[in-house]
Amino acid sequence: MRASSRACRFARSQLTRPQTSSARSYSVRVSQEHGPTSVSTVSDLLSIDRTLDVRVDGWIKNVRRSATVRFLDISDGSCRAPLQAVVDKHVFNSLPGVGAQFGAAVSLKGTWTPRAKPETAQPGETATFELSVKEMEILGESNAARKYATPESLRRIPHLRMRTPLNNNMLRIRSDVMGILSQFMEKQKFQQTHTPIVTTSDCEGAGETFRVEAGTPKDPFSKKPQYLTVSSQLYLEALAQALGNVWTLSPTFRAEKSDTSRHLSEFYMLEAELSFVDDMDEVMDFIQKLLGAVVGGLQQRSAWKELDDLRLHPKNPEEQQTVADLDSRDILQRRWNGLVHTSRWPRITYTKAIELLQEKGAGFEFPPTWGKGLQSEHERYLAESIGYDQASNSYLPVFITHYPREIKAFYMRQSQASPTQGSVFDCFDLIVPGLGELAGGSMREHRHGLLLENMGPDHRPGEGVLDWYEDLRRWGCPPHGGFGIGFDRLLSYLTGVKSIRDTVPFPRLYGHMHP
Ligand code: 4AD
Ligand code: MG
Repeated sequence: MRASSRACRFARSQLTRPQTSSARSYSVRVSQEHGPTSVSTVSDLLSIDRTLDVRVDGWIKNVRRSATVRFLDISDGSCRAPLQAVVDKHVFNSLPGVGAQFGAAVSLKGTWTPRAKPETAQPGETATFELSVKEMEILGESNAARKYATPESLRRIPHLRMRTPLNNNMLRIRSDVMGILSQFMEKQKFQQTHTPIVTTSDCEGAGETFRVEAGTPKDPFSKKPQYLTVSSQLYLEALAQALGNVWTLSPTFRAEKSDTSRHLSEFYMLEAELSFVDDMDEVMDFIQKLLGAVVGGLQQRSAWKELDDLRLHPKNPEEQQTVADLDSRDILQRRWNGLVHTSRWPRITYTKAIELLQEKGAGFEFPPTWGKGLQSEHERYLAESIGYDQASNSYLPVFITHYPREIKAFYMRQSQASPTQGSVFDCFDLIVPGLGELAGGSMREHRHGLLLENMGPDHRPGEGVLDWYEDLRRWGCPPHGGFGIGFDRLLSYLTGVKSIRDTVPFPRLYGHMHP
């Protein structure tokens, strides 16, 4: 390897030794000679247009050959665009083992320098920078081959699939949405809380729970049955009574045998409780504000822009196939327009929804009937017919409110005015086209007597696992309401990734829990 005097001064110890007690390791380290810098990732370095001595650690995404040099695309996971590194052919060929192949982890030392301008460059055109490599080391060999794989086949190798450009991009968007939500909720003066994962009750009543067992039959860890949580809500209500407005973004587990693109056995749910709220419209307004803020925030972030860029300009057949697996940009635009729409999203009662479905008549596998749950075919029809706003080319999410008591959970507040068909709860589902239910929420029954009535004769105060929940009604329980948003469903809706299985790194599904 050619070692210039400059490179000799660029001693390895300078790069690896912690510089101060708070020094951190990053994939890009700029030589101390250049003074303090905020450049620590490939994403940062790509925006720099001055010469720097740097060490870059990353993975090889592509190798191109010329007569004298090898061009490597290097990624560190911080952005979709790779950095171009140029390595002398002899240096490249002298690397040990299988060499510097696609997928290998490498460490490169060299100079961040302007590329030679192509003859086609216009006068005044700024130069693109690349890494002119002086030293190269393989940190981890790779046997990977680069080829397109369908989303289904990638799911069989979940430990590797997050390296593909789309899945990688998706995970960065996921991280961004978590950041945006935290900022938004903090600004709205909600306290972020942590609720238990191991619980003693199945809060939704209908959900299938995973049982948790430990110890031996003779000496069990717990004498009472324990489950993985199906919702944080009941705990959040206790927290709301102490902290006011609270939220959590928590793993949630349901052992439903639903093999659909909308269901996971382990998913994340954003749940919030709003204290001192009597009017359910306030809860729905808050959800609209929250989802609008997520879209507004994403539009400022690079991971979203990169996904849009992939849709607009797929560079090769692999990327074209990847884009073909996604919902189209037109559809996505309508969703985004709807999410940031300034007018209130439509709100219709369940009773009205059933009327509309019955008016439509044929075409449904399950006939719409008052008192029965809405099927996803019903939700999709309603979302598309009521939610589409032609003037703004938007899909407005639709709130369906006031479902019959029989098909909803015991904690919901009994409505003041019920339709003639039967009594209903102050509750809602938020539905969107293509997906169906994105969120569910309600006013909570804060009146002790009515809560007991909802809990039914099976709940005998003083004997049940929900005594503590009921007891909250004796300790200053104000009118309050809350909601849960399926976080993975939200990501799938926002990005147009068709299955929520592709919004999480390791999907847990009925019949499939590997690894
Ligand atoms: O409608 P759900 O079951 O509501 C509750 O659990 C309430 N306790 C929430 C609350 O008020 N705090 O679930 C809320 C949302 C659904 O609208 C859906 O988006 C998502 O969670 N969800 C799932 N997402 C992925 N896979 C599953 N199996 C899901 N089940 C529900
Ligand atoms: Mg629901």
